[in-house]
Amino acid sequence: MKKVNLADLVRERKFLFFGGKGGVGKTTMAAATATWLADSGKDTLIVATDPTVSLSTTYEQNISETDATKIDTVENLCGLNINPKKATGVFQGRLEGMMQNFTNLFGSDVVSTPCAEEMAAFDQFVSYLQDSNYDHVVFDTAPTGHTLRELSMPFDWSGYMTTQIENRKELSAVMGFNADEEMLEHLKKEKKRYDKAVNSLSDERISAFNLVLLPEKLPIEETARAINDLSQFGIQVQALIVNELIPPDVLKGNWFLERRRATQEKYLQEIEARFNSMLKKDIPLFETDIYGVENLRKVAGFLYDQ
Ligand SMILES: Nc1ncnc2c1ncn2[C@@H]1O[C@H](COP(=O)(O)OP(=O)(O)OP(=O)(O)O)[C@@H](O)[C@H]1O
Ligand SMILES: [Mg+2]
Repeated sequence: MKKVNLADLVRERKFLFFGGKGGVGKTTMAAATATWLADSGKDTLIVATDPTVSLSTTYEQNISETDATKIDTVENLCGLNINPKKATGVFQGRLEGMMQNFTNLFGSDVVSTPCAEEMAAFDQFVSYLQDSNYDHVVFDTAPTGHTLRELSMPFDWSGYMTTQIENRKELSAVMGFNADEEMLEHLKKEKKRYDKAVNSLSDERISAFNLVLLPEKLPIEETARAINDLSQFGIQVQALIVNELIPPDVLKGNWFLERRRATQEKYLQEIEARFNSMLKKDIPLFETDIYGVENLRKVAGFLYDQ
């Protein structure tokens, strides 16, 4: 893949994902990116896809779990915290209806429902992948290969049920299943909607997957695994953000800091060698933690060279 710079990569994609191990800086990078895009005049939405208060903390204001909330301190920016416990999607509702009918017909032993919470979260996620209100939608957490695998379950189920129902049409008619033809059609439509959304995840012209990591052994291994897992779904990770580098000018002969920086250097070389073809960006460790728009703009300055 041709190397571009991170600013162009981000500016030219509608959907931006930030994945990585716990605590490496995903929310920080997503929020800095969303702020930067909004500051450049683009209508931007930042979505947290796991139940967390982190977006609200980062922007120092309450952010809704149901509707996009205008961020007071940044023009053109809205935020949303998806809470899977509260989200119930159309697809899920339909599928549960079908399940109920199947359970009535064949008994509950034969039928088990796919993980409702994950389906509900994905349902919401899908609806934002079809968004037409914003120039950019930034997702604070990228789906992992593991999530995508689990989420393929409902699709298997809908395919399975479609075949079953078609095979058993005669039996179904006798047993009063006719009324569900409409539901079946609807389910097929929903499945198409899902398939389209999943395809847009792997379309490099529309979506950019970025992974955040620290220059340390475990995050590097996790990154390698994530890249590999995602590639099995046709998703190519496009950029790595290496976070929390100790700036050389603070060392000043301090043995502890020098030792840590030397360790980071070693891992930076490993990152360069192992993820050779990928776009990379180093972000320094700040002297404080990062929240609030002022700090996010500083991070954006490093991310996007401005
Ligand atoms: N470059 C940095 N310098 C200083 N502090 C940082 C830096 N990057 C992130 N932090 C701080 O590290 C903590 C973790 O960052 P963040 O919440 O962005 O990680 P995360 O990957 O989203 O975590 P989680 O997996 O819990 O969602 C936060 O307190 C944040 O302020
Ligand atoms: Mg986070």
